[in-house]
Amino acid sequence: MKMLITGGAGFIGSNFIFYMRKAHPDYDLVCIDKLTYAGNLETLASVMDDPKFHFIRADIADRSEMDRIFAEEKPDVVVNFAAESHVDRSIENPAVFLETNVMGTQVLLDVSRKYGVARYHQVSTDEVYGDLPLDRPDLFFTEETPLHTSSPYSASKASADLLCNAYHRTYGMPITISRCSNNYGPYQFPEKLIPLMIANTLADKPLPVYGEGLNVRDWLYVEDHCAAIDLILEKGRVGQVYNIGGHNEMRNIDIVKIILKALDKPESLITYVTDRKGHDMRYAIDPTKIHRELGWLPATKFADGIQKTIRWYLDNRSWWENIINGEYQNYYERMYANR
Ligand code: NAD
Ligand code: TYD
Repeated sequence: MKMLITGGAGFIGSNFIFYMRKAHPDYDLVCIDKLTYAGNLETLASVMDDPKFHFIRADIADRSEMDRIFAEEKPDVVVNFAAESHVDRSIENPAVFLETNVMGTQVLLDVSRKYGVARYHQVSTDEVYGDLPLDRPDLFFTEETPLHTSSPYSASKASADLLCNAYHRTYGMPITISRCSNNYGPYQFPEKLIPLMIANTLADKPLPVYGEGLNVRDWLYVEDHCAAIDLILEKGRVGQVYNIGGHNEMRNIDIVKIILKALDKPESLITYVTDRKGHDMRYAIDPTKIHRELGWLPATKFADGIQKTIRWYLDNRSWWENIINGEYQNYYERMYANR
């Protein structure tokens, strides 16, 4: 079995590679990554010398390059994590989101079809469903919830999902899609809520909470997401969408307070800043389908996962300090100065 994993130098893709290494040591894994600002080869250092792992720097939207790689590697399965993934960046510059998330997916679908891959799995997001109101805690996203996107990021992810459905229906391609809620855990790029707040707390810097901090996200430990994708690849039905989430809704402000408490720092570091444009209020997944059909349940409780994650950022300071001391400073300045 040869599995081609795109975006494997990013947060979830790298965790997926580590997960698959353990769960299926017999698989050959090929990682394709463009190494954008979010991709980091340091993350993959522990597997780089593994004879059953192979890294190729390439852009999924580069058709001739993808054709060449697929002709040479002949993967059995493709799992597409590669994406521009940050909502705030998509608000600043949507174009690259369409190039990678939409056109890149189309290229991967075309070459997967041409070389007859046995399964193409698209890693999508619950953000394609838009948001839910705070005063309707009875509402959840099911796989039947209409797509109703808010940001250029979520619009690009939804477009990719529609292309996947079209390639399944039109060409009969063996495609599955998973839509997961917010992930957290090791190797998450420090622009995202949890690592950003950990890094700022450790530096005694202000913690920029958007709006009133009342927005709700449904947090899942990254390893649970990886296990769910593995299960979908093994037992999922082609042509199906599977939502992934563990009923763990939290308000942003409560997450920030948990981090402050864990690191023994004062709440006076919290700074409310101008809200994100079009900010989604609440995400909440109904995971009934994946639980009933595939028996998936999350293994990590948030109370444990967040402590493990904070521990990881404390133990791996050089990994994220290298990032925040580089080009990231310009990003932070652009995004947060005078906000
Ligand atoms: P990330 O930004 O940490 O990593 C993305 C990776 O893709 C990086 O290594 C980057 O270099 C690579 N990449 C970007 N453009 C590329 C291109 N054109 N060609 C090849 N590689 C390219 O993102 P993440 O948080 O790990 O998210 C991975 C996937 O999971 C994305 O598709 C995202 O939409 C989805 N997702 C993320 C979350 C979350 O909470 N982070 C939740 C649900 C779904
Ligand atoms: P983020 O990690 O960007 O994920 P997403 O927008 O895809 O859910 O943000 C999670 C939540 O945290 C979201 O409601 C926006 C909020 N947030 C802040 O309040 N401050 C910040 O500095 C960041 C990055 C996010």
